[in-house]
Amino acid sequence: MKSTSNINIVNEPSIKQSFLEEPNSLYSPRYNLFNQNVVKDLKSNNLHTQFESITANSKIAKGDCEELMSNIESESVDLILTDPPFNLGSFMHKRGTNLVKMRENQFAYAGWDDLEYEEWLMKMSAFFKQSNRVLRKKGSLLLFMSLMKIESIINLAEENNFYYKTVGIWHKTNPMPRNMNLHFVNSTEAWVYFINEGTTGTFNNENKVLHDFIESSLTTQSEKKFGKHPTQKPIDVLNHFTKVLSNEGDVVCDPFMGSGSTGVSCEMNNRQFIGIELNEEYYNISKNRIQDIAIK
Ligand SMILES: C[S@@+](CC[C@H](N)C(=O)[O-])C[C@H]1O[C@@H](n2cnc3c(N)ncnc32)[C@H](O)[C@@H]1O
Repeated sequence: MKSTSNINIVNEPSIKQSFLEEPNSLYSPRYNLFNQNVVKDLKSNNLHTQFESITANSKIAKGDCEELMSNIESESVDLILTDPPFNLGSFMHKRGTNLVKMRENQFAYAGWDDLEYEEWLMKMSAFFKQSNRVLRKKGSLLLFMSLMKIESIINLAEENNFYYKTVGIWHKTNPMPRNMNLHFVNSTEAWVYFINEGTTGTFNNENKVLHDFIESSLTTQSEKKFGKHPTQKPIDVLNHFTKVLSNEGDVVCDPFMGSGSTGVSCEMNNRQFIGIELNEEYYNISKNRIQDIAIK
């Protein structure tokens, strides 16, 4: 794998910096060109970045992205490619069907998956606020989302200076045929694509018509050799978006990294990667997967 240089993580005086605060003006915009004295001052205060360099191109951190994104330099990221919790936990609990049990078996209730709707909106709003800050102007943001939540997501993004581009569908060609004689089998997820403070960004279509509909099988067992994550995305799906929406050497961030699929895709395609994950087990799976692909 090609080794590229700096990923833009900074030591912050306070990890719990409020999202409402403006980005720290002590840092210059891109590629870690921040003032050396500032770094020294922070180090002398015994502050340590919570990001771990796990390969030449990847830095990851364990914890809440609401807190940890404040450690990323302003305007230093080219693409946010992520898959936040869809927050269907409390919705499912309120329904008296056997789907509740099925969901409890299938999904980890981690982080933001089981919040009241209003609380989830506030968390997602904070995510968009930080995304607006860390992304460069005309940087792209693509996130996966449940179809039920699309309108809320577009509203939140627009409130935070994102320009809505596309809602697309990922069709899973081999879904679990659960309750197939009772209803339509769930085989789709949506993805939503935005540009930060601009209307067009990197779009490497190579003069081909790219549809807003993509298809693949579910994640294969061979991609789960370091452990299982309940909503792990196939690498092919992430590779598609990594290649179209960023260039080699670009910085890609996934604040809800799960088992690290975006990071694996970045290593495969010579992008720099910044990842954040709340759950320790998934963090470790990410670390192992990203390091494994980097040495191949
Ligand atoms: C839908 S999954 C991502 C799956 C990932 N795309 C993959 O391929 O493995 C969302 C992840 O976000 C994590 N998460 C939830 N709340 C979080 C938070 N506040 N900060 C960081 N990670 C969080 C969950 O633990 C979960 O692993």
